Amino acid sequence: MKLLVCGGAGFIGSTFARARVREHGDEVAVLDKLTYAGREENIQDLADAPGFSFVRGAIEDAAAVAGVLDASGAEAIVNFAAETHVDRSIAEPDAFVATHAFGTYVLLEAARERELRYVQVSTDEVYGSIEVGTFTEDSPLRPSSPYSATKAGADLLVQSYFHTYGVPAVICRGSNNYGPYQYPEKLIPLMVLNALHGDALPVYGDGMQVRNWIHSSDFAAAIGRVLVDGVAGEVYNAGGPDEQANIDVIRRIVELTGADSSQIEHVTDRPGHDRRYSLSSERVRALGWQPVVRFEEGIEQTVAWYRDNSWWWEPIRSGEYRAYYERQYGRSLR
Ligand code: NAD
Ligand code: DAU
Repeated sequence: MKLLVCGGAGFIGSTFARARVREHGDEVAVLDKLTYAGREENIQDLADAPGFSFVRGAIEDAAAVAGVLDASGAEAIVNFAAETHVDRSIAEPDAFVATHAFGTYVLLEAARERELRYVQVSTDEVYGSIEVGTFTEDSPLRPSSPYSATKAGADLLVQSYFHTYGVPAVICRGSNNYGPYQYPEKLIPLMVLNALHGDALPVYGDGMQVRNWIHSSDFAAAIGRVLVDGVAGEVYNAGGPDEQANIDVIRRIVELTGADSSQIEHVTDRPGHDRRYSLSSERVRALGWQPVVRFEEGIEQTVAWYRDNSWWWEPIRSGEYRAYYERQYGRSLR
């Protein structure tokens, strides 16, 4: 297939682009704004792949979107482009509204005009928090943060383009991803890098919040399955095989890095912090997908990847991220 992958220079988008090129022989065009989270390094290994191209541009820029669609001849749009960090959405929501609302609208208009298949990559956070049980695709949307609220808004817009204009759009909602190339503001890479550097490991509140971890290679495979076989107009959840309390994830990282447990420090909780996420994924399993990486194996591989790939994170940890860290945590990194 010829694909336009928006946000393909980010963590999951680059994992998806790599899998489509390497495992399926797709021709992939990446459109990415290269925000602080987007990095050409994430897709540098794909630069010479047949039919691969990269364009720096925003999804809210209709001319940039049209240009890359014309040049690539893409048959489908897969949209990963987003602002993705909940804490940043609490501090500065503006870009979340612009990218998720207006950007998604621009892409949907392009899909409508050109009669393209459209996949919206979304999140379990649109359902809100669940103390007991598990969310299905029919659970009500009850987002808690500006991040999840604007992602939910984008999902509703996608569904309206299916119902109103017949755009063959599908939505794939994932649970918490982890794996190589994840920007270190997120829990797992933040804790791994802080552990390796002797920095404090900041646990929000009591650390008993539960997340449903999925390896990024498994989520990328689910999105691919939905792209090819998903029924237009449907939503597909893709949840990971394991749930873990944050404090247990952090303790495991301490063990795997050889850090000292005295580095663990409880700090002020995130405002409006969702207690637990849990996704049931029967619909995408019925298409033949299942997650293959269990958390115990995936976390070991992920810690090893960060330990072995300082070329990737050193420029981040010495740049803008340091200022972000000071704003968010009120202290400096070593
Ligand atoms: P990321 O922050 O690593 O990457 C986001 C990418 O989008 C970056 O490359 C960034 O430059 C790009 N981008 C941002 N705004 C853009 C714009 N206006 N135009 C073009 N490009 C833009 O995020 P990620 O973790 O890879 O998440 C990708 C998608 O998956 C998002 O839609 C996110 O909501 C969803 N998701 C993430 C997770 C997770 O745990 N990380 C779980 C479920 C769903
Ligand atoms: O559930 C899917 C979502 O997972 C995605 O849609 C989001 O894009 C992604 O960022 C992620 O959201 P979370 O808020 O769950 O992920 P984060 O890594 O920010 O935090 C995971 C948990 O760890 C959460 O309960 C908050 C906690 N945490 C996080 C950080 C960064 C801490 O205790 N300390 C920290 O320093």
